[in-house]
Parts: sequence; C-alpha cells; structure tokens
Amino acid sequence: MCGIVGYIGKKDTTKFLLDGLKELEYRGYDSAGIALLNQNKIEVFKALGKLSNLENKISQVTIDSYPIGIGHTRWATHGKPTELNAHPHLGEYSYVVHNGIIENYKELKEELSSKGHNFVSQTDTEVIVHLFENYYNSLNDTKKAFENTIKRLEGAFSILLISKADPEKIFFFKHGSPLIIAKGNEENEVLFASSDAPLIGFTQSVVYLEDGVGGIASAQGIEFLSDNYSWSNLPTSKQFAQKDGFRFFMEKEIYEQGTVVSDCMLGRLKDEGICFDEIEPSLFDGVREIKICACGTSYHAGLTASYLLERLAKIKCSVEIASEFRYKQPLLTNDTLFIVISQSGETADTLEALKMAKKAGLKSLVICNVDNSSMTRTADYTILTRAGIEKGVASTKAFSTQTVVLWMLALYIGKLNSHLQKEDLDKEILALREVPKTLIVSDRIHEKTRRLSKRYLHGHGFFFIGRDVFFPLALEGALKLKEISYLHAEGYPAGEMKHGPIALADPELFTIALMPQNLLYDKIKSNVEELSARDSTICAISPLDFELADDFIKLQKTDHYMLEFFEMLVVLQLLSMEISIRLGNDVDMPRNLAKSVTVE
Ligand code: M6R
Repeated sequence: MCGIVGYIGKKDTTKFLLDGLKELEYRGYDSAGIALLNQNKIEVFKALGKLSNLENKISQVTIDSYPIGIGHTRWATHGKPTELNAHPHLGEYSYVVHNGIIENYKELKEELSSKGHNFVSQTDTEVIVHLFENYYNSLNDTKKAFENTIKRLEGAFSILLISKADPEKIFFFKHGSPLIIAKGNEENEVLFASSDAPLIGFTQSVVYLEDGVGGIASAQGIEFLSDNYSWSNLPTSKQFAQKDGFRFFMEKEIYEQGTVVSDCMLGRLKDEGICFDEIEPSLFDGVREIKICACGTSYHAGLTASYLLERLAKIKCSVEIASEFRYKQPLLTNDTLFIVISQSGETADTLEALKMAKKAGLKSLVICNVDNSSMTRTADYTILTRAGIEKGVASTKAFSTQTVVLWMLALYIGKLNSHLQKEDLDKEILALREVPKTLIVSDRIHEKTRRLSKRYLHGHGFFFIGRDVFFPLALEGALKLKEISYLHAEGYPAGEMKHGPIALADPELFTIALMPQNLLYDKIKSNVEELSARDSTICAISPLDFELADDFIKLQKTDHYMLEFFEMLVVLQLLSMEISIRLGNDVDMPRNLAKSVTVE
C-alpha cells in the first residue's frame, strides 16, 4: 500500500526522501512524489511508475537547499494512477501526503468547492489540504487550523502536512494507517516513515504512533497534541524491517489480513448497504447470470462467491477455471456479466478469458489487487481489493480481500434486485463488520498450528474436506499445503468422499475436516465419522468439540458461517506455513512456482 516519508534536518532532504521511498518500494506503488520546503518556497516533483522516473525528473534540475520535505508512494484507490493524482497534494500554499481513505471526502469537497477552493485531482486526499487552508485563512493559526482539520476527517488518515504559512514545521497525524516519528541521530533532526525500513541507520529512538495521535515537528523539537505516546528502540536489520519482524513475507501477509480487509471495506460497507463508487447500478441492467473466471486461489474465491451470489442475490452464477474456459468454445450470451478475479491482473489465462468475453460483447468486471494492470485496463469495470503488494508466492491476503469484495458484491446485487430482505442484509453487514477482528491471528491459534505441524510431515496424503463455501475453502487449504510443503493434498466436498476417495482411508491418510457450527454441521459430522470409522487420521477445525478427532483446533463461537470461514482460513494458512517451515522449504518462494503466471 502507500508509503510515507518525511524529513527535517541538515542532510540532503531530497536524497533522504528518495532513499526512504526506495525502502518502501516492496509494498507496491504506481506513482511517487516529494515536496520540499524552505522559508521562501515549496518545490514539488511527481512521476508515474517507478521511483527511477521521479529520480530522473529531479536530476534534471538544480535544487536549492531545503531543510524540510515530505514524500509518498501511491497505490491508487480513489482516482487512476496519474501524475495529477500522485501525492503530495497542493492547496494554495500547503502540501499533504496521506495514507488511508477519507470516507467523507465527497461532502467536504462540495463544501470547500462552494467556498471557492479549486480541486484538480480525483483523490480523496486533496480535501485535507484545502480544509487546512480554509481554516488557516480564517483563524490565522496553523496549529488550530490543523486541529480543526483533523476533527472533520472520517475514515483512515495518516498524514504529513507542510505549509508556507509555517515553513519550519511538519504537521503529522496518525489514524488507521501506520506512521512512525523518529529523533534523528544528528542534532535537531526529525524523521517520519510509514514503516521501519527507511529509518534504520538514521535513528535509535522512535514513536510508533497510536491511532488518534498527532503533533507538530520542527528542528526545535516535537510537540505532541496528546500524551498517549512512548519512545522505543528501532530494530537494526533492514530485511527484518521489511518483513515487519516476521520470519517470512507469507507470515507477515497472514498477519496483515485484518488490516487489509478493513482497508478493503473502507467507504464501501455502510449501515444501509454496500457502496461501490467504481461501478454503476446500470452495470446490472439486463444481467440474468454471472460467470466468474479465474485461476488458482482466485478461482477458489470465485467458487466461494458462487454460493454467496446465488444464496444472497438470487442470481445464477457459474465459475470456470480460466485455462479450461479458453478452449471449450463456451456459449456466451449478452445477459451474462463476466467477472474475472486476479491478484496480479496479469495471469495470461484469465486475461485471455476476459478478452474472449469482451469480444463476445459481454459486460465485464475485474476484481483485482493491482490497478493499471492488463486486466483493469481491459475490463469495463474494476473493483480493487486494496490488499497491498503480496510478496509470498502462496496467496493469502489476496484471497481474504477477494472473498470480502465478492461477499459485498453479492449483497450489493441482492439489494439492487430486491431479493435480499432488509433484515437479512442487516445481518450480513453486521457479520462483515466482524471480519477484520476474526482475521486477527491469536497467539493461541498460531502456537497450536505450530505444535500440530510436527505430526503432519509424512503420510501418503491429505484430504481437506468441507461443504458449501467450506468446499472451496478446503480446496484453498489443500492448495496452500501443496504449494509450500510439496506434500500431496486434495480439497474435496465432504459428501463426495464416499463416492470413491474414501477407499484411500487409513491411518496414514490425514483428513483436515472443516466443521463449522453455523452451516450443515450434522452433515459434515457424519461425513467425518465415516472417515474416522475407516481409521483415517482426523484433524478437525471447529468451534464444537468433536470427540473422534485425533487432533482438534478449536475456533471461537460466532453466529455467522462466513466468520467461521475466515477464522478457518487463517488456521489453514498457518498450518501449511508451519509444516513448510519444519520441512525446511522456502516458504516465500516455493520450487517451480512464480508469483504471476503471465504465460500460458
Ligand atoms: O494473480 P492471480 O490471482 O491471477 O493468480 C492466480 C494464481 O496463479 C494464484 O492464485 C496461485 O494459485 C497462487 N500461487 C496461489 O497461492
């Protein structure tokens, strides 16, 4: 996701900012920019694409000396990746960089426009700097203007703001997205970054700002606007910092799911229903059927969605593996909405399927994590999953955000076509709000999977079994295990085991049984009993005790099967990872696999 850096001091500010942004590159971005401030002027540079484009631009001019600067790498959410939409954003005499999403930006923009403020970008961020200047113009006090600005913002906003009205200061605030302030090793130096990496080597003492904490920094010192902050030491290893202290990117990405799913729902999940700014209700005019096409993990998200779309939106939905779809000479009719799902937006098979659907005249929508990718450029509409860059080859947070987007889409369509009763919609919304909490990894669950992993390093295979949406989840659990442990694993619909695969059952066949309390519990229970009777080794994952289990991972009790779904997802991801670690495999870069499969 987006990155922030800031600097006050005597070093080469431009260099510090560019080096800092480079340290944040691994998080993904599509444009970058810096703003530099001294007593006389503000200078700003922005460029699309790689940081080297920004560096080239800057290297072509002579830059004065600037003791203050802010920088940003942007991953587009509101508005396309363009230079105009890149941060820092300008008012008349101030600049801001921002991570997060301002949920009430439309109201604020209207209010400020009516007062004569001119907006040039499509972003939500621009309202911050105009709001600040609006207050400053009447109050003539930068601190009060900043405080008033913060009070008006809703959503997530970690920001750095500089202004010619007070040219020795950086105003900062953290809410939602991470932000760190540091005392530099040099005298009178203050540094900012949205994660550790840019700060390593330049400071020993940092404040990891809590939500709701902000202040004003200058060479003279740091003034916090509240007293809930504390100084701590910074780690010294860069690799460690990039992984935020986790052993592998996959582990970090599993732990990030609660946060990225919140980002994914921000501004979209409202009390009265779902709001997608990026699509129009008319997209569904005349649509009688949905066809989803994807590969791998994204296919599993699609399969999960097919249950939700038919159940909640009462719309016919079929799902196809893109590589199969391409050559089957599919029958495509104009009353079908074609949805592709892809983390990267570059998977060759999925892209080709999308092109075929477009050629056949179907309306198309892509659910994707990377804006400006081949798929987002091809499809009629895009919904971004906002998961931030995913580095581990084994997809984790991409799947949870895709599933949440698709669940929200089912509710959106259900409300639009009046098939979803208000009472049911309210219940689903309540459950959706709980998803980020459900995805938080507890020490208990992680430790349990770590301990259990040592018992599952051999055997002649794994069956992951589940019913309904827990069948695609079983497929996903099996895929995760295969990819990084190189052990044979299959996902299967639990009710189908007796039609053949149960012949394999013996103590060396490991069954991972997904047993939710809130969906078909008795059915799955009897399927697992059948396997247990044939002496298969059973690892049950459920909120309800199950006495036939050889191993048991207990979930929390909830009242919605999708919350059980997400809690189980985390368990499955952790279990595969811990098995892979014990086997000594490369968790982040498993053999024979690439992150993005851009060839057939
Ligand atoms: O980028 P995409 O979502 O289109 O990628 C599709 C698959 O290649 C991908 O999900 C793959 O299966 C992952 N390695 C699964 O962990």
